[in-house]
Amino acid sequence: MFHTQNNALFCEGVSLEALAQEHGTPLYVYSQTAIEQAYLEFHQAGQGRKVLFCFGMKANSNLSVLACLQKLGAGFDLVSVGELERVLRAGGDPSKIVFSGVGKSATEIERALDVGIKCFNVESEAELDRIQAVAQRLKTVAPISLRVNPNVDAGTHPYISTGLKENKFGIEYERAVAVYQYAQTLPNLSIQGIDCHIGSQITEIAPFIAAMHKVVDLFDALATHGIHLHHIDLGGGLGIDYNGEVPPARGAFMAAVFAALDIRLGGKDVEIVFEFGRSLVGNAGVLLTRVEYLKRNGEKNFAVVDAAMNDLLRPTLYQAFHRIEAVTADPSIEQAAVYDVVGPVCESGDWLGKQRTLKIKEGSLLAIRSAGAYGMGMSSNYNTRNRAAEVLVSGTQASLVRRRETIEDQLALEVTPKRLFAASPKTPA
Ligand code: LLP
Repeated sequence: MFHTQNNALFCEGVSLEALAQEHGTPLYVYSQTAIEQAYLEFHQAGQGRKVLFCFGMKANSNLSVLACLQKLGAGFDLVSVGELERVLRAGGDPSKIVFSGVGKSATEIERALDVGIKCFNVESEAELDRIQAVAQRLKTVAPISLRVNPNVDAGTHPYISTGLKENKFGIEYERAVAVYQYAQTLPNLSIQGIDCHIGSQITEIAPFIAAMHKVVDLFDALATHGIHLHHIDLGGGLGIDYNGEVPPARGAFMAAVFAALDIRLGGKDVEIVFEFGRSLVGNAGVLLTRVEYLKRNGEKNFAVVDAAMNDLLRPTLYQAFHRIEAVTADPSIEQAAVYDVVGPVCESGDWLGKQRTLKIKEGSLLAIRSAGAYGMGMSSNYNTRNRAAEVLVSGTQASLVRRRETIEDQLALEVTPKRLFAASPKTPA
């Protein structure tokens, strides 16, 4: 949905240069059509089956992105009460919400029970006890699933790999049956399913299939203990192309997983849930940033741009690669040069791309690609920088879906005690 037309980059029918001029930079721009198409590819692959796609909304929680997905019938995988309120605000259906995460508070559990979510993905016995206590107090029954750790190596970055034993996530595979049996003794819990999530940015089918087999092994073992599950949630994690990676296409991926599942489940009536995040939105977004200065230190060229690690943390945090390109080819620049693209934040780690060959000058507009997932959502106010604005494009329509933050917005939450404004006492000698 991003394409070049007359030497300039467009999002659908809208010029990125025009958007930057209208809304300023740094600016996140998302293609609604790209998000819809990605969702529909999953949806079509699951047609005729009992399947629910819950968007892993931590990837991008903008209300309009959520609204766009909920209109297509998506459910949501969320990890905080804040995300829950976002889904409700976007018109999402609570009965299609799964609540993941290792540290749900009593308040969060209560709110989720109030609105009637589909399921809690539970990560420990202690959490089972807490959900039981809250449900009992509210005189209700809480739907639960246990997140098991299938101990499968997803072969991804250690910070985003979650299915291994040494990880904080999930319940140890070997103890899972015992924990289910414990859950069964708690009167205000209703066991609904089983789930796993082995990691993120996975570009091979094999780890998913391996995890699926281990989860179905448990599903079968539980049945022999009289515990019959309604759903199997295989999590998210399907990767995208950042730098030439070739992840399986969504349709082919689903076909392979369903084929393997069909053999294992042999017509049993089980709903399958997925929690894809990045695959739906990652390549549907770019971050636009303008070059403030070009500078040279020793042998190195730097392009200092107006976006920084507070806007897009992935390069700093994971050494993640995002393609960077000039939005408009500028014929007045004859020579390309190799630059480190860095932001204004006072940290050496504040870089967005290293050793990039670019034809740019001061004022050039750059597009940082694949920024639709874990971009805006991981942004911060570090260095008291205002968070970027967000625009959602559909065809030739561009809508500002989050205005740029102001300094006033940032300062509004802080209170300075009066004593700090009083005349300062003489510094003791
Ligand atoms: N379900 C659970 C339980 C998860 O923990 C996650 C992501 C997802 C679903 C969605 O995964 P996806 O389909 O997006 O891979 N900030 C990192 C990624 C962290 C992912 C955390 N969990 C990054 O920027 O690469």
